[in-house]
Amino acid sequence: MKREDFPILAEKVHGKPLVYLDNAATTQKPQCVIDAIVGCYTHTNSNVHRGVHHLSQLATKGHEDARRTVQHFIHAKSEREILFTRGTTESINLLAASFGQQLEAGDEVIISEMEHHSNIVPWQLLEMNRGIKVRVVPITDRGELDMEAYRNLFNSRTRMVSIVHVSNVLGTINPIKEIIAIAHQHGAYAHVDAAQSIAHLPVDVQDLDCDFLSFSGHKIYGPTGIGVLYGRESVLETLPPYQGGGEMIGQVSFEGTTFNELPYRFEAGTPNYVGSVGLAAALDYVSAIGMDTIQQYEHELTCYAVAQLATISGIRFIGEAAHREGVISFLIDDIHPFDMGTLIDHLGFALRTGHHCAQPLMKRFGIEGTLRASFGLYNTHDEVDALILALKRVQKMF
Ligand SMILES: Cc1ncc(COP(=O)(O)O)c(C=O)c1O
Repeated sequence: MKREDFPILAEKVHGKPLVYLDNAATTQKPQCVIDAIVGCYTHTNSNVHRGVHHLSQLATKGHEDARRTVQHFIHAKSEREILFTRGTTESINLLAASFGQQLEAGDEVIISEMEHHSNIVPWQLLEMNRGIKVRVVPITDRGELDMEAYRNLFNSRTRMVSIVHVSNVLGTINPIKEIIAIAHQHGAYAHVDAAQSIAHLPVDVQDLDCDFLSFSGHKIYGPTGIGVLYGRESVLETLPPYQGGGEMIGQVSFEGTTFNELPYRFEAGTPNYVGSVGLAAALDYVSAIGMDTIQQYEHELTCYAVAQLATISGIRFIGEAAHREGVISFLIDDIHPFDMGTLIDHLGFALRTGHHCAQPLMKRFGIEGTLRASFGLYNTHDEVDALILALKRVQKMF
């Protein structure tokens, strides 16, 4: 699907055609995204929100149009609910730092055993600095959340549930609507880490009924250094600012400073207005294909890959959830994933090895790391076939 739109896919590595299967780490960029970025620097570059001059107005329009593109893409009610950040990590840090100011010692936040470090450590910082308690939903051997244990974690001090939509290691699609509904039944807010779902399935914040949702531009064919924190307007209005500086203020004086309205109150400093335009180009690109079409295609490709990988003797899958997206983690015999990853790289295959920023999850499975293949909309069945042959070839070397 649409391979020719991605110039990097024509590259060779170690003299072999590139087979890029590290899309959970970052995705490649279609030409329209590259053109949008170059177009900003070539034709409209100027600081946004700060000038009456023509270029500044063009740059400001590009940035604010991009905000509306994001709003429509995730079906937010208002553009005031779209905060631009550097990525998922900054989105969660913003949320934890701001929301955390309203928490008191003994208040609780629920996360899960399958979280990326960026949805663990910001809450742990609140544990250290404000005496809150982080509670952890355990997972089953198949790599699914233990929903009964989740229900039992709530008490009168639970303030926030922050759970990943799709696991970057297991590929598990969590029952996120149910998770959010249960959080609300207990009077807690719900944040969704959509870093791994945003590029692979339709994400609708009103349908999910989440209070917050985070994602990174670079994981959905957009540039690095741009991300989004969605926040329900009525909740965002109650939160204190995150960073201080330009853009986020109303009036500054030594007697006291007032703050800007949403969303600018949470966007101190010159924003990444080139990144936002690049992100909007990426969202327009996937929207033109259709997120349903992408999901269907990748789901079929993932099922095919799992079935083909299963033909390798000595393979152990880490994560076998009933509902999963295009991420497959595995180990072969007792070969160290790093060794396997290095050898397979020499055959042109880009796979991820290691703990994938999910060390507690590795501990849960009693392993140090995995080999991970993750798909994007441009991967093909032929690439899966080539991967299986390459893995079998490398396996024989040990
Ligand atoms: C589930 C999940 N959450 C958060 C992140 C952090 O994203 P970023 O590094 O773009 O901030 C990642 C990145 O891999 C991820 O997979």
